[in-house]
Amino acid sequence: MRRPTIILAALAGSATLALAACSGATESDPADSASGESSGESQTLRLAINQTEDYPSTIALTAFGERLAAATDGRWSIDVFPNEQLGAQAEALQLVSDGAVDLAIVAGPQLENLNKDFVVFNLPGVFKDDAHEMAVVNDPAITGDLYKSLEDQQITVYGGFTAGMRGVYTAEGPIMVPADLDGMKIRVQETDTMVRMIELMGGKATPMAFGEVYTALQSGVIDGAENAEPSYTTQKHNEVAKYYSYTNHLINTDYLVINTELMASMSAEDQEIFRAEWETTLEEYMAMWGQSIDDAIAEAEATGTIFTIPDQAAFAEALAPLAAETITNDVQQKLYDDAIAAGK
Ligand code: GCU
Repeated sequence: MRRPTIILAALAGSATLALAACSGATESDPADSASGESSGESQTLRLAINQTEDYPSTIALTAFGERLAAATDGRWSIDVFPNEQLGAQAEALQLVSDGAVDLAIVAGPQLENLNKDFVVFNLPGVFKDDAHEMAVVNDPAITGDLYKSLEDQQITVYGGFTAGMRGVYTAEGPIMVPADLDGMKIRVQETDTMVRMIELMGGKATPMAFGEVYTALQSGVIDGAENAEPSYTTQKHNEVAKYYSYTNHLINTDYLVINTELMASMSAEDQEIFRAEWETTLEEYMAMWGQSIDDAIAEAEATGTIFTIPDQAAFAEALAPLAAETITNDVQQKLYDDAIAAGK
């Protein structure tokens, strides 16, 4: 029997406990078979994501699971748990490592916390646009051994997709130049690099999980946050921070991570199917992505958001030292040089 989502959601505050109680979703469970027949070999994988049901990646990954089930005759299917139901990204990543969750979508900064070399793809200015980013993060000739570097922790990075070009949004007044961020507490993802990024941009960084941002904005714990438009509206941040400024300071990547042992337990044939369906998922996601930005802008404007274009060159200049400060070894330097070269 498929477990009701509500049980996991109710327990999500203590995700480890919840999963200990519910572990076994990857066990053989005939009722989970897409065909409903008792094959004895069907496995339903749990995928953790922090986005809402209507966010493009959640939609594309749900379709991924359905196609995977059809193409493997029900041997493998995926249950997508949106809205941090299985924990925020840092927890979800740990749970994939533990094998309590099978798959998760995590943003680059989370991986940087486990291996500093991932930092290269989290740097402002490394990608000029989404297409450049997609070409880099999905090119094994560039990523080299990076995606296998966490396998001693049972985490395989499977591939990535754009989470979009980010702007800064605040509750009060438009941000036009770095000095406008002076004294402002801006939420960032939980890494030193993101903290430093906001400091260089002129603000004070407050690291916190994605799902906490709405309440923090609403209560005034923070003055603003930074993200791409689809996250801004699907998380309803537009209700509590009406000034969105196109600082265009960073393009973030979302990665699919999978438990390494689990991947190894798949037959070669099923691994191939998984790969092919993932490639289709990337295409489907990208086909939705541009429209989701347009829709987000329209929705935000209709509810009173004021979009502004600030002095983007001033922000780029403020951020220029970050790459040199951050890159400390040859692996990172090569990733950086190859990524930049791919955009030329
Ligand atoms: C984007 C990204 C998420 C990330 C979030 C954040 O929405 O897609 O993976 O968690 O930004 O700022 O935390």
